Amino acid sequence: MMSKRILLLHGPNLNLLGTREPEVYGRVTLDDINRLAAEHARKYGVELRAEQSNHEGALIDILHVARNWADGVVFNPAAYTHTSVALRDAISAIGLPVVEVHLSNVHARESFRHTSLLAPVCVGQIAGFGWRSYILGIDALLGKLGLLPEPDL
Ligand code: DQA
Repeated sequence: MMSKRILLLHGPNLNLLGTREPEVYGRVTLDDINRLAAEHARKYGVELRAEQSNHEGALIDILHVARNWADGVVFNPAAYTHTSVALRDAISAIGLPVVEVHLSNVHARESFRHTSLLAPVCVGQIAGFGWRSYILGIDALLGKLGLLPEPDL
């Protein structure tokens, strides 16, 4: 039996990864990312469940349900990052550690992408590393959950 479980949550348009603006987001598909992420989490004995929705309310519902089963969340909120007070309130409400991830370096893009309404209620943000942002996000979350070895100091 695996002890810890994490939710990997993807927001709008990320179902199109692989064909969507590959010069910005790369050629990996969402299925590739979910597989790579699940394999990575499994190395630490952690179960990863992945979900995607194009709908703000559906993402909120998924976060509410995660309160009952997940130990933490790695979340690419996509465009809702920059607009959604409702998702921010949902993250605050569930009380789970949430790591915000982005494939692209949002800070090097249009100015409307420089603001995240969600980052202040997340444990941190990772952006700019393509599919590896998700792997880094998982490591960041596992560190917060105390599941990575601590250095001898
Ligand atoms: C994104 C960045 C967002 O600004 C954009 O709306 C996305 C994807 C990323 O992963 O780089 O849809 O979250």
